[in-house]
Amino acid sequence: MPQTKIAGLGYYVPDNVITNNDLLKYMDTSDEWIIERTGIKERRYANRTGETTTTMGVKAATIAIERAGITAQDVDFIIFATLSPDYYFPGCGVLLQRAMHMKEIGALDVRNQCSGFVYALSIADQFIKTGMYKNILVVGSEKHSFGLDFSTRGRNISVIFGDGAGAVVLQPTSEAGQGILSTHLHSDGQSAELLAMFNPGTHGNHWHEEAVADFDEAEIGQMFMSHNMIDNAQNFPTMDGPSVFKKAVVKFPEVIKEALSANGLQSTDINLLIPHQANLRIAQFVQHQLKLSDEQVFNNIEKYGNTTAASIPIALCEAWEQGKIKKGDLVCLAAFGSGFTWGSALIRW
Ligand code: UT7
Repeated sequence: MPQTKIAGLGYYVPDNVITNNDLLKYMDTSDEWIIERTGIKERRYANRTGETTTTMGVKAATIAIERAGITAQDVDFIIFATLSPDYYFPGCGVLLQRAMHMKEIGALDVRNQCSGFVYALSIADQFIKTGMYKNILVVGSEKHSFGLDFSTRGRNISVIFGDGAGAVVLQPTSEAGQGILSTHLHSDGQSAELLAMFNPGTHGNHWHEEAVADFDEAEIGQMFMSHNMIDNAQNFPTMDGPSVFKKAVVKFPEVIKEALSANGLQSTDINLLIPHQANLRIAQFVQHQLKLSDEQVFNNIEKYGNTTAASIPIALCEAWEQGKIKKGDLVCLAAFGSGFTWGSALIRW
């Protein structure tokens, strides 16, 4: 059975830099608070020239495809991870397929938020190993800036998110011990509402236990998005930050250890850990827990903020471009986020 290797990778971030101080125009916050609690100094927002989650994904994918030494016509499957799609439906996968003039290949959309890229990678790995596909394009892209609560009410979320995209091309390799060694995926829906965007959604206003027995005439046609929801700012993501933080610092080390153990390896064997860029304090906590040196962990949240599904492929590509990943290195990817969902992937480069 072939192993799956990363044959090409690319990333794109908009040139529109938004510093912490730029956010003071909209909300009561401070550069000091954001840096101390998150490590973020600035983030990128999509340009207002029609830039979308898909167009950013296309830019990252174009680089990844070229570096893999193939053309868009050679891609035989697309997996697109995002929580900020251009449309409620259809997903970004088909929009990318159209924009890149690809063949009538399968296009799958993954909705696993911050762990979307690790989930997507895992799915692609299975298709490659079984011989189903030879060139899978995996994209993680987010345009958060379109839909955040920029008032003080939403500051715990809006200061952390940024826009951008990353992509990889996966191919089979017969080189022994090379490529994706294993992936590990988990979820716990008990905490689904702790980090969520409820609308548009089919829950109406009744996402708790209350069932809607009879439709209120006035509600029909407004179930996805009503004026009331907008008036009450229910169309923005919400998060119980401290609860998410507490769970993240447990699940990150756990799922990394799970990957190491599955391969008979230890944390000292890791050449580079690329954690989902949720919060620098979380990454530092994980580093401390696993007794990793600074050289063993890659962070770029300072520049881009939290780009959810895009954060790992952007960081992976940036680390690779900086020469921090060399052939034979053991690279560990790990993510945790809304759902809750979390996962890891261990790759021999
Ligand atoms: O990527 C997906 C997964 N997401 C995560 O992993 C995020 C995990 N959580 C976090 O990163 C942190 O919880 C946050 C960065 C979101 C928040 O940091 P925190 O240290 O947990 O702050 P907090 O929510 O406990 O709030 C502390 C105080 C509150 O004020 P009071 O009640 O103590 O007066 C907040 O209102 O900080 C206030 N606050 C802010 N102040 C200035 C919250 N956001 C801000 C802000 N600027 N942007």
